[in-house]
Amino acid sequence: MAAPYATSAARSLAALGLDPYPLPLDEDGPRPQHLERALSAGAKVVIVTSRAQNPTGAFVTPERGAQLCDVLAGHPQTLVIEDNHAAELAGVELTTLAGATDAWAFIRSTSKPYGPDLRVALLAGDETTIARVEGRMSVGTGWVSTLLQRLVVELWKQPHAQATVTEAAGTYNDRRHQLIAALANRGVTSTGRTGLNVWVPVTDETTVVSRLLQAGWSVTPGARFRQASHRRANHSQCPKPRHHFPNWPTTRRNSRHRTPSHLLDMTSPGLK
Ligand SMILES: Cc1ncc(COP(=O)(O)O)c(C=O)c1O
Repeated sequence: MAAPYATSAARSLAALGLDPYPLPLDEDGPRPQHLERALSAGAKVVIVTSRAQNPTGAFVTPERGAQLCDVLAGHPQTLVIEDNHAAELAGVELTTLAGATDAWAFIRSTSKPYGPDLRVALLAGDETTIARVEGRMSVGTGWVSTLLQRLVVELWKQPHAQATVTEAAGTYNDRRHQLIAALANRGVTSTGRTGLNVWVPVTDETTVVSRLLQAGWSVTPGARFRQASHRRANHSQCPKPRHHFPNWPTTRRNSRHRTPSHLLDMTSPGLK
């Protein structure tokens, strides 16, 4: 699994008794040489967030996608799961790895653009993988509410809903860029090319998190995204400790008028 990874994904794997093998990524997505290494070491499933990677904001570029497909072609039995969770909010074109192997599943959630209460996602995949998902669902909820499915279709048809989501995507994009630029002006490097997150390197997460909390800002420490794994040999390949601003402009009520500069004024350069 591309690492650092979303905690929800890590929890799902833990519930299944699976052990994630961290696949280091950069801003263009997982690195091909590490994918080759993981597959050669016996990984059977690859999970990639196509766009708006949580927490780094990476997305799979067309060039990187082609390289990853080349690697996957040498391991055709691999199940490739692509998580397009941000969908309309991602703000960049989609590059998919679907079809590079015999087994694949592409998931497009409606949670981020239209609201997580919908609990609706669309799944495409090969026949066997889809049958396995249907079999799993048959011992759980059975099916996804058709009322909610129809609601999603109605939202897709509504020009007003579409305009609102497009505006939200633009706002997230602007605010992310503003924060990254403001941090850069203070000599702090951060990443976040797509989606809702900005990922900031720090040397001491605990101090940064508590200092920001004292100043009225809620942020998520990067440790959450680097779950323990018995595959310790790979931990050295994971990015350094980071500090993560999830949905940063709205993490606190009444924060509408706060600016990145305001946030920066509350952090001392010593905490970088
Ligand atoms: C990368 C990623 N995938 C999936 C999810 C969960 O999506 P859903 O609400 O559709 O289950 C999240 C939630 O934040 C996420 O960050």
